[in-house]
Order: sequence, then structure tokens, then C-alpha cells
Amino acid sequence: MSKVVETFDRWAEEGRDAELEREHHDVARQVIAAMQLKPGERVLDLGCGNGWATRLIAQTSPGVQAIGIDAAPKMIARAEALHSLTIRARYEVCAFEKLDFKDNHFDRVFSMEALYYAADLEQAVRECFRVLKPGGSIETLVDYYAESAASEPWAKVMGLALHRLSEPGWRTLFERHHFHNVTTARVIDSRGPGGAHDFKSDECEPTFATKEALHKAGTLRVRAEKQK
Ligand SMILES: C[S@@+](CC[C@H](N)C(=O)[O-])C[C@H]1O[C@@H](n2cnc3c(N)ncnc32)[C@H](O)[C@@H]1O
Repeated sequence: MSKVVETFDRWAEEGRDAELEREHHDVARQVIAAMQLKPGERVLDLGCGNGWATRLIAQTSPGVQAIGIDAAPKMIARAEALHSLTIRARYEVCAFEKLDFKDNHFDRVFSMEALYYAADLEQAVRECFRVLKPGGSIETLVDYYAESAASEPWAKVMGLALHRLSEPGWRTLFERHHFHNVTTARVIDSRGPGGAHDFKSDECEPTFATKEALHKAGTLRVRAEKQK
């Protein structure tokens, strides 16, 4: 089992999947709203964790079908436990590097705070391109990138080999894999960094000052299209 899977299986067991949702949902909501999903579209949530964003995507427009994939079986078990049968979403254990879907299957790909954990980032992006329909687009959101200095220690504190790309580095990664109209932007959590009084530290946010710096840098949004 890979160290990434071991880590996120443990996080699921410890209930930290819910913390991820609390941390990420404001930025994810902003981007999912901007995606303007249309009825009937098929959307892949890459590295879905407990599937909260997969369910959010499925509820944005009538008939949107959302599929969440994650390499950590215990995250997928949480997703299934939290699932409601009234929502058009499903979840699969699957690796970014070997997506278990046909070519040109999805209208959109969404990924929240996940792609930089890939064992093989080039292969992961190649797979995203393959499963997207011509005319489809991908939205990648990451908090770990070179211009966000406060995220720099994460690979060391998590004991994982993470991909630390710069904003232009993310852009050229997608361009290298034949994506068009690649744009980047920063998305700021509209709730602010919160207050120092209710701050709880963890390995990635050891101090409130770190949390403030991460909030100020924002989440890097990379949007890219597969040409028609
Ligand atoms: C930080 S969590 C984010 C989860 C979710 N998107 C959220 O915001 O709550 C990153 C997720 O990516 C998954 N992941 C990392 N590398 C992966 C890979 N190569 N293939 C599939 N999933 C992977 C992990 O198992 C983990 O659940």
C-alpha cells in the first residue's frame, strides 16, 4: 500500500475527512458555482475524499452525474456511508494514474487539494486529458504551490513526496499535455482565516500565523480545456 493511501485511510479512520470538508468547502463552492454545470453533464471528482464535493456537484443542476474517485478505500467507504440515494453520485476506489473510465467519458473534471499527491503527476494529467470529452474542461485547486510559502513544510511534516509546482509550472504542466486555454487564479476563502481563539493546530497549520498566511495566498485554481 502506498504511503499516501496509508495516510488518507488513517485520516478517514480519525474523522479528518470532515475537517477537509470544513477547510475546503467555501473555495470549492465558489469554483463549482463558476463551472456553471449543465443538466446531464458527467463530472469526475478526482481525489474525492469522503465525497462531499462529489455530492455538491451532483446537486448543482438537474441530472448532473458525479463520480468521485480516490485511492484510499477508507475514504471511499466514508463517501458511501455519507451518500444519500436521492443524489446522482457514486464513488470508486481508483488511482489518478490509471482512471478506470473510457476515453472521452466526462464533460468536466474537478479536483480539490489532491493532484499534487499523485505518485506520477505527468501520468495523472495524461489520464485526465484522455477521459475528458473534446470541449470538456478541468478545474484543479491546490493549496500547496511554490508561491504559497507557508505550505512549504507540508511534504516534510506529512512524510510524503509531494509535487511543489509554481503557478507557471502548473500552467505548463497542462499545456505539455495538450490542454488549451490554461488559466490560473487565486481563490480566497470568503470566511477569512477565522479567529485566533478557536484555532486548532495540526501538522499543516502549526500556528494561527500559518493559517493567516495560507489564507492570504489563497487556493491556486488552474483551469484548462480539451479542444473540440
Ligand atoms: C487532501 S485530500 C482531499 C480530499 C477531498 N478532495 C477534500 O477536499 O476533502 C487528498 C485526497 O487525494 C487522494 N489521492 C492522493 N493521491 C491519489 C492518487 N494517486 N490517486 C487517487 N487518489 C489519490 C487521497 O487519498 C486523499 O483522499
